[in-house]
Amino acid sequence: MKLLAKTFHGLEEVLAEELFQLGAKNIEPKKRAVAFEGDKELLYRGNLHLRTALRILLPVMSFRARNERELYKKVSEYNWSKHLDNSKTFAVDSVAFGDIFKHSRYVGLKTKDAIVDQFREKTGKRPSIDVEAPDVSINLHVTGDRFTISLDSSGESLHRRGYRDNRHKAPLNEVLAAGMLKIAKWDPEIPLFDPMCGSGTILMEAAMYAKNIPPAWHRKKFSFMSWPDFDKELWEKIRKEAEEKFESPRVTIIGADVSMQAVDIAKQASLEFRLNREIKVSKAAFENQTPPFKAGMIIMNPPYGERLQKDDIIEFYKMIGTVLKRRFTGFDAWIISSNFNAMKNIGLKPAEKYTLFNGPLETKFWKFKLYEGSMKIKKQRVTNK
Ligand SMILES: C[S@@+](CC[C@H](N)C(=O)[O-])C[C@H]1O[C@@H](n2cnc3c(N)ncnc32)[C@H](O)[C@@H]1O
Repeated sequence: MKLLAKTFHGLEEVLAEELFQLGAKNIEPKKRAVAFEGDKELLYRGNLHLRTALRILLPVMSFRARNERELYKKVSEYNWSKHLDNSKTFAVDSVAFGDIFKHSRYVGLKTKDAIVDQFREKTGKRPSIDVEAPDVSINLHVTGDRFTISLDSSGESLHRRGYRDNRHKAPLNEVLAAGMLKIAKWDPEIPLFDPMCGSGTILMEAAMYAKNIPPAWHRKKFSFMSWPDFDKELWEKIRKEAEEKFESPRVTIIGADVSMQAVDIAKQASLEFRLNREIKVSKAAFENQTPPFKAGMIIMNPPYGERLQKDDIIEFYKMIGTVLKRRFTGFDAWIISSNFNAMKNIGLKPAEKYTLFNGPLETKFWKFKLYEGSMKIKKQRVTNK
């Protein structure tokens, strides 16, 4: 089967590597997605194990249409009873690029009409629509006059691991946090510190990775479970195999935040997933922070500054740079932010730079190596210019 795993722009290579590790064939990174080939088993495994995929699509038809009449006709020609029946609910999720079809909602509605009419004509009844939690999710992708219709095997986006109640203000997407850990080459032997942990996304993704717990382990529902060919035995075998590989390594994963509310949310998340032995969180302002261990990795996601004055956010990032330089010698520090101007004011030279997307928001993910004298080297370079 030809399949397509969707992700955020910037994580395509990371996802391709994950797919390779799972045994996928003919892996081809695209923009915001990776195409690959595999069987039903790989489709199930992918939904359970891929940390940087948002969903996995199974394309069922592609065609060209230049207007809505042609679109309706093409969709009507396909035999939808292969995937749906009147007892199931469905929804069409559509995205359109190009000048011909400007309103993705509208092409989605036309597609839905064509499917519903086919059932009504054949059976006198029709399957119901449920946009919140459909049994069968249909994905429609349009570029110019080229349409691809796929079954979405995941349903709800795979970033919804189930540990977050969304009370915290500016959480990182779970898929992005998992991708950052992979880009940073974090492994469970390296002590990890997130000094502005918010709801604890980075900590949670790290602990699940360390224990080899699949990211979708706590999820009850995937769209493929409503497909007529769902193989329950195979799914249970895959889950059992995963469970046998759970590990209990000694890890140091520490979070801090200036907000007590954030600390409580992060602690609650770790309790809910029984990761409170691995994750320790406390209240602290970064200005007063001392290293919780001798050397290791920092990954942090400071505020971007939407609620602060421009000068204040620059000062805030300068403070981050100063604290890192003065107190965190020996650490590798990774910072993600969408405020590029503020990032430049950290006052350290990045050793590695990545552009990643937190949904539609462009962010920079930079690595700083905090060795003795890193500030002096930077000053020398500046004065030599
Ligand atoms: C963008 S949010 C981090 C979100 C987090 N990555 C998550 O997934 O929920 C930034 C966090 O920095 C915290 N913060 C702001 N100023 C701080 C400071 N001086 N010291 C420590 N934490 C701070 C905020 O309370 C907030 O939780």
